[in-house]
Amino acid sequence: MALRVVVTRRVPDPALELLAHSGVGLWVSPQDRPLEASELRAAVAGADAVITLLHDRVDAALLAAAGPQLRCVCNVAVGYDNIDVPACSSRGVLVTNTPGVLTDATADLAIGLILAVTRRLGEGERLLRAREPWRWHMFFMLGASLQGKTLGIVGLGGIGAATARRARAFGMDIVYSGRRRAATELEASLGGARYLELDELLESSDVVSLHCPLTAETRHLIDAGRLALMKPSAYLVNTARGPIVDEAALADALRAGTIHGAALDVFEHEPDVHPGLLELDNVVLVPHLGSATIETRTAMAVLAARNALAMLRGEEPLTPVNPAALAAPAPS
Ligand code: DGY
Repeated sequence: MALRVVVTRRVPDPALELLAHSGVGLWVSPQDRPLEASELRAAVAGADAVITLLHDRVDAALLAAAGPQLRCVCNVAVGYDNIDVPACSSRGVLVTNTPGVLTDATADLAIGLILAVTRRLGEGERLLRAREPWRWHMFFMLGASLQGKTLGIVGLGGIGAATARRARAFGMDIVYSGRRRAATELEASLGGARYLELDELLESSDVVSLHCPLTAETRHLIDAGRLALMKPSAYLVNTARGPIVDEAALADALRAGTIHGAALDVFEHEPDVHPGLLELDNVVLVPHLGSATIETRTAMAVLAARNALAMLRGEEPLTPVNPAALAAPAPS
């Protein structure tokens, strides 16, 4: 019998064609929405591989519903906070993600947001669309320049480093924090990027851009106390995961002028946005667009499909999250 691959929501055609032409039994959700947990459990029953999206919760109940033949869960995202990786590992289920292919698109968006918030692009657009009267004058809608300012990167992984490289072209100096210091060559290539403890980074940066994964340690990493460390002239940009920022605290800080502005691509309770943020002019809000280019989304889906096929053919997966799972005994 053909191996069964389940795709939980439509992905770009090249990935589906790759799977269809490989001879697997392919099931793609016909729904143009995330599946409910019960629908997801029913869909994955008997699957050998599941291709998931970032809104699908993969937990012990889902793995049990899939059955002991399940070999891999291939997430079409670099982040995999939607997946209980230890639960997968303990059942010998490999998890893969899609690093690399979305680095440039996400870094481009981070820079776009930095420019949008420092140059007040959203505010300007809203003003014109509201047909408000306006005239150019010396003090009209002034923003902040980036040249000579300091960009604080929280998490100097692939996307953080790509954002920093772009920021160098705007004349920014780079500081960064994270679990460990980066290689000296990487620091040098970023114009002598300096490693700082997070609190020191927050105190000294003009723009803080978040690029760390969402984990138990980074949930609400940026809370009221940390926002209070930032300069009143500083901006916060989040293209990583919403729950890294305490959104209620951010709304308070923006309203009180604790910081000058923020730009968010991701939200604590996605797809909802904290109502306090929606009322404020000094925050730019976009709906999780980091990887949203045709080329990037296609590359992500194809990479996930290639990971699934590699696993089903007994080959090395390309981008495993928990490679040790392959050595784990199958559940009895
Ligand atoms: C990811 O890959 O984790 C992104 O958030 C998707 O845009």
